[in-house]
Amino acid sequence: MTTNILPAQSRLFKPLKVGNMELKHRIVLPPLTRNRNDDDHIPLPFMAKYYGDRASVPGTLIISEATSVSHLEEGQYNIPGFVSDLQVEAWTKIIEAVHSKKSYYFQQIWGMVRASFPELMAKKGLRYRSSSAVAMKGRDTIPEAMTEDEIQEIIQSFVDTAKKVIGAGGDGVEIHSAHGYLLDQFLSDAVNLRTDGWGGSIQNRARLVLEVVKAVVDAIGADRVALRLSPYAAFQGAEKEDIEGQYLYIIKELKKMDTPLAYLSLVEATGDPGALVRGDKPVNQGKTLDFILEEWSKWSPVIVAGGYLPDTAAQALEDRYKDFDVLVAFGRYFLANPDLVFRIQKGLELNKYQRPTFYLNMSEEGYNDYPFSKEYLAAYPAAQAIKLGKNSYN
Ligand code: PHB
Repeated sequence: MTTNILPAQSRLFKPLKVGNMELKHRIVLPPLTRNRNDDDHIPLPFMAKYYGDRASVPGTLIISEATSVSHLEEGQYNIPGFVSDLQVEAWTKIIEAVHSKKSYYFQQIWGMVRASFPELMAKKGLRYRSSSAVAMKGRDTIPEAMTEDEIQEIIQSFVDTAKKVIGAGGDGVEIHSAHGYLLDQFLSDAVNLRTDGWGGSIQNRARLVLEVVKAVVDAIGADRVALRLSPYAAFQGAEKEDIEGQYLYIIKELKKMDTPLAYLSLVEATGDPGALVRGDKPVNQGKTLDFILEEWSKWSPVIVAGGYLPDTAAQALEDRYKDFDVLVAFGRYFLANPDLVFRIQKGLELNKYQRPTFYLNMSEEGYNDYPFSKEYLAAYPAAQAIKLGKNSYN
């Protein structure tokens, strides 16, 4: 069945409680790596304008770009960390910018290990690591398998950073276990060849992500913790032989916890960044998240990402996801439209995104130069001041 419903009249604009947050609609800014941090992995001041602008309709959930939990994990140029005082200070201003718009803020937190650039790690004198000594396709450098001590240390780093995010005023953290980064390198049987307690079976491969989730929940409370998974993505070689078995195990273990996580964030087969961003061959197309949603049910809300447009998102909430508490991520269109939520609500045309400027390191071009609609500026005169650079946080 397909429903033709205007996005403004669809469940996209049905408020939803997520964790402790009272969201006014279900349009979410998902984590987007944009390389606008400085060479010490500290957010540049103009990032506060970017995040604050996208929070411009009150009651919006803003999720930060992926942020490293340890200096050992700052493995690509100009990605951020949430470790040093200067990093925490810079993020605090960003969180304030979002909250000043009466919107909500989750920090996505990650380790990168094998997805780090080997030459940057060498330059910093840091070990290039992974779950196992398995090289990423197209790279000569073979990572070293993480030791037991290093695994314990990274769990602690997730806890330490989660506490810092809450200390800085954040509403919660989203643990990144997707797209071939640290936790996904343990989940994937193509990468994780360990024969100790961290590999060799579905249970052991899931152990690290589950231990990280539980440790962070113990530290800051389940209603401030979310988890992102990408069951179908082949990005950075983190494929799984038994996708359903691997992910159903994780979902069932999460449901054994006393309190539900704030939300689960799931990337659909159509959202694989390998295919979407890098032009790799799409894999697992046509596969759905139904098996996870049926198991998860309404334990807590679920964010889906998969290249949605306003009308396809509205339709997904009315049809496929009608029995679940689902929100929809808009990555590229939220980048290009600071007032995306307003535009969707009013049925306005969207700015087009400019792919060549997605990853323009440290540049405001392709970042803070996408315009608000004139209709938004008329409806929210305060945004005029922001546009003219009169806000207090830039
Ligand atoms: C990317 O840098 O392309 C990237 C980062 C994080 C993701 C996906 C893609 O989850």
